[in-house]
Amino acid sequence: MVVIEVVRGDITEENVDAVVTAANESLLGGSGVDGAVHRAAGPRLAEAGAAIGPCPPGDAMATPAFDLDPPVRHIIHTVGPVWEGGDQGEAETLASCYRRCVQVADELGARSMAFPAIATGVYGYPADQAARIAVATLRSTPTRVKQIRLVAFDQETCERLTVALREQ
Ligand code: APR
Repeated sequence: MVVIEVVRGDITEENVDAVVTAANESLLGGSGVDGAVHRAAGPRLAEAGAAIGPCPPGDAMATPAFDLDPPVRHIIHTVGPVWEGGDQGEAETLASCYRRCVQVADELGARSMAFPAIATGVYGYPADQAARIAVATLRSTPTRVKQIRLVAFDQETCERLTVALREQ
């Protein structure tokens, strides 16, 4: 059974098999968590992203982790929904991001993975709703991954995820 935990920190310092980044469709790199992941993994990450992209919202695609320290071997790039008020299918797209990342991790044979709070930064998804979707989707997606770490960069996200994990 998968163990899901919430931690506060920088996802580029996680010791897991696969790190998820909240990318844009180009997979060429951006700001926020994607900027941090690209800086840590080095310039080959953007080249690898260009080779497999674009990635539509709700989907996920993997590349090597390049300069990230072991045990990290894979970066899973997913593209969240841009928040437009909630009636444009944002919840379904966000759930699909979490589900597809776990499926890709399974295909790669990863046993541990770390997620950022997808779509809650630049893309504007409300943190409390996003946390509930993250936890509900991860709990209901069958997987061989043993450990999932939800990495919160700020205190509010950490609290939202902790509440969602406790209540669901
Ligand atoms: N580690 C973990 N989480 C982080 C880090 C980090 N180093 N840096 C930022 N975050 C957090 C943010 O605080 C936020 O809670 O990641 C969450 C997602 O925020 P964004 O990175 O802005 O991602 P998103 O809202 O999905 O927007 C994606 O931003 O960077 C661009 O190319 C990306 O255009 C795309 C858009």
